Amino acid sequence: MENLERTHSCGELSATNQGEQTVLMGWVSRRRDHGHIIFVDVRDREGITQVVFDSENNPDLQHTAKSLRSEFVVAVKGTVRVRAGAKNPNLKTGEIEVAGEQLWILSEAKTTPFVIEDDTSASEDLRLKYRYLDLRRPRLQETFRIRHRISMAIRSYMDRQGFWEVETPILTKSTPEGARDYLVPSRLYHGQFYALPQSPQIFKQILMISGFEKYFQIVRCFRDEDLRADRQPEFTQVDIEMSFPAIDTLFTLIEGLMAEVYGLKGIQIATPLDRMTWDDAMQRYGSDKPDTRFDVFLQDFTEIFKTAESSVFREMACKGESIRGLVAPKVSYSRKQLDDLNAFIKQIGGAGVAYIKVGEDGLTAPPVVKNAGQSTIDAIVRTSGAQKGDTIFLMGGPRETVLAMMGALRLELARREKWIPEGNWNMFWVVDFPLLEFDASENRWVSRHHPFTAPRDEDLEFLESDPGRVRAKAYDLVLNGSEIGGGSIRIHRSDVQARIFKRLGFTEEEARDKFGFFLEALEYGTPPHGGIALGLDRMVMILSGQASLRDVIAFPKTARAMDLMSGSPNLVSEQQLRELGLGVVHGKDKNAS
Ligand code: AMO
Repeated sequence: MENLERTHSCGELSATNQGEQTVLMGWVSRRRDHGHIIFVDVRDREGITQVVFDSENNPDLQHTAKSLRSEFVVAVKGTVRVRAGAKNPNLKTGEIEVAGEQLWILSEAKTTPFVIEDDTSASEDLRLKYRYLDLRRPRLQETFRIRHRISMAIRSYMDRQGFWEVETPILTKSTPEGARDYLVPSRLYHGQFYALPQSPQIFKQILMISGFEKYFQIVRCFRDEDLRADRQPEFTQVDIEMSFPAIDTLFTLIEGLMAEVYGLKGIQIATPLDRMTWDDAMQRYGSDKPDTRFDVFLQDFTEIFKTAESSVFREMACKGESIRGLVAPKVSYSRKQLDDLNAFIKQIGGAGVAYIKVGEDGLTAPPVVKNAGQSTIDAIVRTSGAQKGDTIFLMGGPRETVLAMMGALRLELARREKWIPEGNWNMFWVVDFPLLEFDASENRWVSRHHPFTAPRDEDLEFLESDPGRVRAKAYDLVLNGSEIGGGSIRIHRSDVQARIFKRLGFTEEEARDKFGFFLEALEYGTPPHGGIALGLDRMVMILSGQASLRDVIAFPKTARAMDLMSGSPNLVSEQQLRELGLGVVHGKDKNAS
């Protein structure tokens, strides 16, 4: 046994290997005992091979084969033969089997808490607790194969384009990307903290000041934010920055990268990609990352409602708010379905949704719409283009809120009505984002991307007088309704950067305290520069058809930011706290429900 070497993987033998001796090593996936014939499926990361033990004159071998249990690790020596009975078209090795001649149990396994197979009914929590077993499932292994291929393709592409991979620090100073920082207490300087990077933004800009010209990094980022299926507290970016960029050069670079990455799965991305302005995206889809795989668009009914008889919608329209709607083709919901939809909108913070059902025998609408009067209703139906059998959904309120709510409704209807076709890959740029947005809770303007994003030159003059009007040299890359990347051309002049900090409400002292080193660096000859970061996990998730980032990250956190396998976060010893100069204030635990 000692010198036994594996000759083949469990995914590679075929009829062409007929008669060859083979040594396989892997996990027992399944054992079927037919008395004197025992079938054992041996699995490794490349596939599954059926091994048959049917030699009646070797009782020891039969005995060992009978003792095998699922997930034992074994080595088998045998001869490849074409299956006499039914072939298995679902297996890569389905036309052959190995006649087992020798068998070694390399390690035994306890009964696993769930069966290792793709279609498992085990709960996600259980699978995450035993992540090492979960990761044995072929589908997950395939996902990590794709992830590896993508990383390799990215490195090779960026290298060919002249980019250097440079590592930036993990123990760093807080960068303002908009989420909360994860902090690491300093043992040497009590009361002082490192921040884990939300992104390497400042460092990559500094590398441009250092004259590196073209930088990339496949890098872990950390953000303490509310988690969703497409957000993890630590995730991986393909971070890119270049000096002297023309926007078109940068777009072409990224489009080439996307074509290469998606080409790995045989998906053709037609380049150059379309560009949609942020304003169009919001007006037509109610989202800055619109899913354009189905043609249902938001429409503006504000003007029509201004002349309505009496309706809250009229009041809203007259006081400057907005009434938006969409036509849901061939949708005629029952009372219960409409209530459900209303509940959905209320749950995400909306006031509710009104409707006009365009039925065979006339129009049906709730009082909030009926009160507007017949001529208003007729005008809406006419301009909307709704046909018999369709429903027009309507919402009113402050413009941005209504657009966002309508956008969410559009996606919810698409989910319910299965409007989104399978197998479509819809990738494009969203451009011309506003530079700033007003944060009512903080009563100040905040950056939409981050404070290093350059304003459009022609808009800079409005920075102080009309900040909402200033557009940014920022862009997002959207795929099938998901934001897979975002970036911008940066501010490369320290006076403009200082002006932006001021606009964001930083005093000079605060700006110097937080970013003084960076403002100073900008003063030593900064090339114009710009870049982007792509969400690697999101790209892999979409490419491998997974519904959650947890399926594409080897050791992910739960929606409550816990690692169920290792049990983090956890309490640390009093001594560790003392060394760090920390004490814990026991208050209400955020995780306690
Ligand atoms: P941004 O914050 O847009 O830009 O992030 C870039 C991309 O990273 C992905 N992403 C995430 N993926 C998983 N979990 C998360 N919590 C998460 N947050 C973001 C998204 C997103 O498009 N420094 C800038 C980039 C730049 O300006 O060059 C930045 O980090 O796919």
